[in-house]
Parts: sequence; structure tokens; C-alpha cells
Amino acid sequence: MKLENRIAIVTGGGGGLGEGICLCLAREGAHVVVCDTNLDLAKQVATKIETLGQKSYASQIDVRKSDQCEQLIKKTIEIMGSIDIIVCCAGVGGFVHRGQSTEDLGIENISEADWDLTIDVNLKGVFLCNRAVAPYFKKKKYGKIINISSLAGRKGIAWIPHYSASKAGVIVLTQAVSLQLAPYNINVNTVCPGVIKTAMWDKGAQILVESDPTYKGMTRDEVFASVVEDMIPMKKPQTAEGIGNLVAFLASEDANEITGQAINVDGGAIFN
Ligand SMILES: NC(=O)c1ccc[n+]([C@@H]2O[C@H](COP(=O)([O-])OP(=O)(O)OC[C@H]3O[C@@H](n4cnc5c(N)ncnc54)[C@H](O)[C@@H]3O)[C@@H](O)[C@H]2O)c1
Repeated sequence: MKLENRIAIVTGGGGGLGEGICLCLAREGAHVVVCDTNLDLAKQVATKIETLGQKSYASQIDVRKSDQCEQLIKKTIEIMGSIDIIVCCAGVGGFVHRGQSTEDLGIENISEADWDLTIDVNLKGVFLCNRAVAPYFKKKKYGKIINISSLAGRKGIAWIPHYSASKAGVIVLTQAVSLQLAPYNINVNTVCPGVIKTAMWDKGAQILVESDPTYKGMTRDEVFASVVEDMIPMKKPQTAEGIGNLVAFLASEDANEITGQAINVDGGAIFN
């Protein structure tokens, strides 16, 4: 096992991708702290980790709040004794405040509230978690930070400019933080997933049905299949496990010489 007795934190660990990442880390021998705003979801994932024979606990956290991010680090050290890995996966898809409107997805229809929330969770949240763990990892002269970006952070996606901007921010934030932490034997990398069917995608598909004539009348599953067909050269969706496997590799000693990188797991959609 690559991660025997390592201690990992996964933010957004109650979500579709977060759960997959938690379970991949646990299968490789890590003990995993599952954090999410949704404590029930986090608890369900923590139970699954325990079923695999690893230690876990669920923590309610809003990654937009600096005091909660700092508390998470302190509490994890108290309860688990240490931290080796943090995976910043908490995110929102971009249309939380949009409601069920049938307006088109032109930039004039993206609300300021959606912009603020998307940037706050997806970018500021990563900054706050990286900042909270950095002093501890620097003292320890060891640590693995993995920030979750997106295919949409590599290339502007027309219907989610604010989401694309937040995820592009994660890539360059990761590069800058990796340079700061490289002298301390700390690896900081980004993973850019393609298209995975999670609660976030389900909501996105519904918005496309309502807003984009291309998808009018389709079911959410049909929208998802159509996006995969159009965007993913391998013609199949990505999986939480596929993303989790790369995260587990980046968290392991096998990846000791890799830092500052953004790695795509997207069936060939993006080359840079
Ligand atoms: N699903 C995809 O196709 C896809 C593709 C590329 C990138 N991503 C990224 O992967 C990550 C996980 O997405 P997902 O598809 O699993 O979505 P999801 O909605 O299933 O999971 C996201 C989780 O983050 C939690 N969360 C939201 N705001 C939070 C906050 N302020 N503090 C703490 N937790 C918060 C949610 O409660 C949820 O459990 C996100 O960063 C997303 O942008 C997803």
C-alpha cells in the first residue's frame, strides 16, 4: 500500500468526487478526515472508510471561513496526531443562486451572487486551506497538497465563465504555492478532472436543459451523454475512482519529484 498510516484531509469529502478520493486514499492505507458543509454526507463517507479498516472522522467545515480552516488543521493534529496530505476538493458548480430561471447563459445573466460564491468556495477556499496547513507542513518538512481544478480551468467554457475563472485560478495558485513550499520538501499539485456524473453535474445538466436550445427536451442523462460525446475524445465519462487514483499517486512517495503541475484526467480533452 502506497499510503500506509498517512493522515489525509479531504475537503468536499461528502461529494461525488470527494468520496471517490477518500476511498482511494483509504484503500492505499491512509486514515482520512472527511470535511464538508454537509455533515451527514461527510459522516456517511467516514463510515465507509472505517469499513475499509482505516480511521476516519467527519468534520463540518465551510472552506470560505479562515477560522474554520485553521481549526480543522488543529483538530486533525489533536485527534489523528499528524497530517501528511490535504486534498482541496470542495467546490460549487456556479449556479447556486440562479434558481430555475429559463434565461440564457449569457454573461449578463450571471448574477454577482453566483460569481462571488463560486470564487469564494472554489478559489478562496483552496487558498485558505493551503494557507492553514502550510506552517505545519513547513515545520515538519514534509507534506502533500493536492488542489482540485477542472478541465474548465484549462479552457474557458462558454456557459460557466465564473467557474472557469475560479478553476484557472486554482492552477496558478498551485504553481505559486509550490514554488514557496518546494524548499521544505512539500509537493503541491493540481488535478484537472473532465466530466464526472455527480450531484454538481446533475444540477448543471438541468440548467443546460432550461437554458441552451441544443439540450431542450433532453433528460439530464441525455445531456450528460451528449456533453461527453462532444468534449471527451475517449467518448466515456471520467470516474471518481479515476481521479482518486491519480490523487493517491500524487500523495505517495512515487510522486516525490513532481510539484507545481496540473494534470488532466479527461479522456484526452485537453493537451496543455
Ligand atoms: N463533477 C465533475 O464533472 C467535475 C469536473 C471537474 C472538476 N470538478 C470539481 O471536483 C470537486 C468536487 O465536485 P463534485 O462533482 O464531486 O460535486 P459535488 O457537488 O458532488 O461535491 C462537492 C462537495 O463540496 C461541498 N461543499 C460545497 N461548498 C463547500 C464549502 N464552502 N465548504 C466545504 N464543502 C463545501 C458540497 O457539500 C459537496 O459535498 C469540485 O471542486 C468540482 O469543481 C468536478
